[in-house]
Amino acid sequence: MSGGFFGAFRCCKGDIDTIQTGAEGIPTNNVRLFSYNLLRSATGNFHPTNRIGGGGYGVVYKGVFKDGTQVAIKCLSAESKQGTNEFLTEINMISNIRHPNLVEFIGCCIEGNHRILVYEYLENNSLASALLGSKSKHVALDWPMRAAICLGTASGLVFLHEEAEPHVVHRDIKASNILLGRNFDPKIGDFGLAKLFPDNVTHLSTRVAGTDGYLAPEYALLGQLTKKADVYSFGVLMLEIISGRSSSKSAFGEELMVLVEWTWKLREEKRLLEIVDPELTAYPEGEVLRFIKVALFCTQGSAHQRPTMRQVVEMLSKDVHLNESALTEPRIYRGRSSKQLGGASSEESSSSQAEKRKQPVNPFVNSSYSSQSSDSVTQMLPR
Ligand SMILES: Nc1ncnc2c1ncn2[C@@H]1O[C@H](COP(=O)(O)OP(=O)(O)OP(=O)(O)O)[C@@H](O)[C@H]1O
Ligand SMILES: [Mg+2]
Repeated sequence: MSGGFFGAFRCCKGDIDTIQTGAEGIPTNNVRLFSYNLLRSATGNFHPTNRIGGGGYGVVYKGVFKDGTQVAIKCLSAESKQGTNEFLTEINMISNIRHPNLVEFIGCCIEGNHRILVYEYLENNSLASALLGSKSKHVALDWPMRAAICLGTASGLVFLHEEAEPHVVHRDIKASNILLGRNFDPKIGDFGLAKLFPDNVTHLSTRVAGTDGYLAPEYALLGQLTKKADVYSFGVLMLEIISGRSSSKSAFGEELMVLVEWTWKLREEKRLLEIVDPELTAYPEGEVLRFIKVALFCTQGSAHQRPTMRQVVEMLSKDVHLNESALTEPRIYRGRSSKQLGGASSEESSSSQAEKRKQPVNPFVNSSYSSQSSDSVTQMLPR
């Protein structure tokens, strides 16, 4: 099945080889190539007991190589059956991106119809299962752990946005894409994956239709994809981490508000700490309040008003005084699923007037930062 593709590689001795040159001469950088047979034996013939999850991209298995190395093996679903060249180009890009807060990409298998990605295995599963999962999966995360997860995730995003080559907008920041290492250190997964799927068929197409509460409204409605869409999703994620509540599955107050709206309401009523997870019995109030406010800066309706991820890291890691007078209201995108929550139609809502195109406002009181946005907008149809 693999046909000409493998003919382009140097003959491999064992199960793993380093691709020197892809099909039709696409140079690849130290991408480890795994044979399908090796992955099959590492997963017990893809046995259901080794299945550790499955999302829109495909099914994930835990695999163990003969030397004992544990890996996560992601078998991409049918929609990703793009040509070998395009696939290799994206794989190349992903393989070059390395950071302590990003799940390490180990290699891939491209045999026949198979498109399989191999990652380092994170033993503490995803933040979604630790924080929001069923009782058996739930892990008690104290405040220092939650703060470290926020900060680590933000650092991973700074890397993707500003240091990775090319810069990467993740597009799908959410609790299930934050994996937790041995010490509950966070690592962002699935970066670069959206590009492995042709735009009109990615799994995210169902995501907008049935909003999961993470989508920046300008991306969901207008298809405007910038780094600020990730900043928005990160703000929602932070509120989940602080409150221990799922943004898509929780409804608050009589109006059945979503988490972001509820947080804004509590702020107006000067009851912001009520959003904190009741499981957190001891925490530094000043720091937690600062984190909640940073999340609100991230979820502002106007993308231009949101901080960059680098500014977010600054705001989280130092006891900076936030310029709250610059904080504007959040805006949320309501998809079909939010009808059960808020009863709204499938459109954006904002408690503010129509968005005014303001100049960005610096969230710091004393800072030399200019939050002038230099984001380029990629027009994408909502997926
Ligand atoms: N590197 C990994 N180490 C350990 N577990 C992993 C790893 N990658 C994924 N998983 C597990 O597999 C689950 C499913 O991951 P997957 O990315 O396929 O789906 P998802 O994140 O829920 O949705 P999406 O497809 O939108 O990303 C994760 O929630 C996690 O429990
Ligand atoms: Mg995922």
